[in-house]
Amino acid sequence: MTITLDTPVGHIAAQHPLATRVFARHGIDFCCGGGRPLAEACAAKGLEPVVVIDDIERELGDAPGPTTAWDTAPLDDLIDHIVSTFHEGLREELPRLAAMLEKVHRVHGDKDPERLGALLEVFRGLQAELTDHMMKEERILFPMIERGEGNRADGPVSAMEHEHASAGDALRHIRMLTDDYTPRDDACNTWRALWAGLEQLELDLHQHIHLENNILFPRALAG
Ligand SMILES: [Fe+2]
Ligand SMILES: [Fe+2]
Repeated sequence: MTITLDTPVGHIAAQHPLATRVFARHGIDFCCGGGRPLAEACAAKGLEPVVVIDDIERELGDAPGPTTAWDTAPLDDLIDHIVSTFHEGLREELPRLAAMLEKVHRVHGDKDPERLGALLEVFRGLQAELTDHMMKEERILFPMIERGEGNRADGPVSAMEHEHASAGDALRHIRMLTDDYTPRDDACNTWRALWAGLEQLELDLHQHIHLENNILFPRALAG
């Protein structure tokens, strides 16, 4: 696939999984905003598209080996991968991060009360939303796809896409409240580990939502 200014970023991400590293570095939204052409996504970030294309080509050139081609792998395998890697990962990580955040808020809340309070609230909302969201995917949508009924799943798919957009908004808010995950000079180790954990959560959720929005759902709907 040749990458042009008109190629939707979600397609680039689906065809070239490693390109998502480049998008993440430049803050280009490839999951919920995956339908936008590359030129438009770059313009929104004040980036030169040629620089980004160069960067993607370099990343692909440095690729250590083949990564699974999810755009052609059986849908059951893709679902297994999403559940075992991302859903299980979130079930472990969300309570861990919540506990760290509560601790930082309790111990250091007075250093930045407004933003730490807001962060706790946004994170708790995201945690509740994602927990419910994964349950719906695992109990309703994914079984439909596995039964070969994905082409009738327009309703559940659009509901899930809507929830993905809401998770994307929460991540943007968290990024803002953490100064792009930059710890304060006086931050303790837990605080630093929390910022690092939240940044990893963002990376993983972007990959996770990308696999669902740009690969699993369109393939399932197409039957
Ligand atoms: Fe999911
Ligand atoms: Fe999802």
